[in-house]
Amino acid sequence: DTGGLVDSFGRVATDLRVSLTDRCNLRCTYCMPAEGLPALPRDATMTRAEIVRLVGIATRDLGVRQVRFTGGEPLLRRDLLDIVRDCAALPRRPELSLTTNAVGLDSRARALRDAGLDRVNVSLDTLDPDTFATLARRPFLERTLAGIAAAADVFDVVKINAVLVRGVNLDHAADLLAWCLERGFELRFIEQMPLDADHAWDRSAMVTAAEVRDLLGERFALEPDVEPRDGAPAERFVVRSPQGTGDRLGRVGIIASVTEPFCGDCRRTRLTAEGGVRDCLFAHTETDLLGPLRAGADDAVLADLWRTAMWGKQAGHGMTDTGFGEGFTQPERTMSAIGG
Ligand code: GTP
Ligand code: 5AD
Ligand code: SF4
Repeated sequence: DTGGLVDSFGRVATDLRVSLTDRCNLRCTYCMPAEGLPALPRDATMTRAEIVRLVGIATRDLGVRQVRFTGGEPLLRRDLLDIVRDCAALPRRPELSLTTNAVGLDSRARALRDAGLDRVNVSLDTLDPDTFATLARRPFLERTLAGIAAAADVFDVVKINAVLVRGVNLDHAADLLAWCLERGFELRFIEQMPLDADHAWDRSAMVTAAEVRDLLGERFALEPDVEPRDGAPAERFVVRSPQGTGDRLGRVGIIASVTEPFCGDCRRTRLTAEGGVRDCLFAHTETDLLGPLRAGADDAVLADLWRTAMWGKQAGHGMTDTGFGEGFTQPERTMSAIGG
């Protein structure tokens, strides 16, 4: 068998998300339990060489064009720079990006750029220190902001991700957008998905995309972006000031994973930190590549395992308008272990 990562519905996965570690230095309520999760034993996690080998197979044999490093928190990998450098040196160099909470990014942003990283997305849910500490269960707002500032100095594109939680940071949404617009960051509001450790997700409490559009509309004028969405999770809007000239202020995105799912155009394949292929965020099974790799499988065998894993990808996550669809069950793994 040759060719790309095609599934039985004809979708082709060209974006790879690689989780580099399951560990994190924050404990965001929508992602991890307060006490954390048992960390994977070190030798269960892919090494730098194993990651680069699998990314190389994905780009050379499987048509992957974009690679995003996630976690847990990818900055906790001491060899992150080397991983980026090695992936940037692959013969068919993919676009390389990072999703991070930016704690500690201030001292590493420039080196990451120099190693070949193309852009970063940073999670930031609020600009209020107390609210940050409530949501992330760690008082690290200043460190996150320092990381964002350093990223802005060296990367052309910085996106900010915010999950809104009712009664916590919902009222901060418009202020956060104003802050991002002033700095040229593209903010994306993300609907909370049922991937929390406590299984406390409640569809009726979730802040929806429609609600966010209405809320922002009180302070800004939003118009749908004309640029093609291209399978991206975010629906983008051009933001204008509501009065007078309607000056263009920038862009905002809304990632409506629950109420307006984009599964029909999904282009994503995922590798867990343990070297398993996940064909979907909400998959219940994984296909181990690390075991076969360590047992000596050659590239063609690993590529075939990956193709087979993706062929069985489900049509969509199966949540409905009102809650969990028939047969929907939350995956065992939390967001922190999948990498988003
Ligand atoms: P770019 O648009 O390329 O900048 O990246 P991205 O938005 O795909 O990546 P990022 O890691 O910043 O993810 C933002 C949010 O989108 C996170 O909450 C992800 O979990 C969510 N997301 C990313 N991919 C998928 C997906 O395949 N399905 C769903 N439902 N959500 C996704
Ligand atoms: N639902 C939606 N987004 C989530 N993230 C983490 N947990 C969830 C969840 N349960 C976001 C983080 C990060 C991105 C990778 O995923 O805020 O920005
Ligand atoms: Fe793709 Fe699964 Fe996300 Fe839907 S939920 S967009 S199929 S990864």
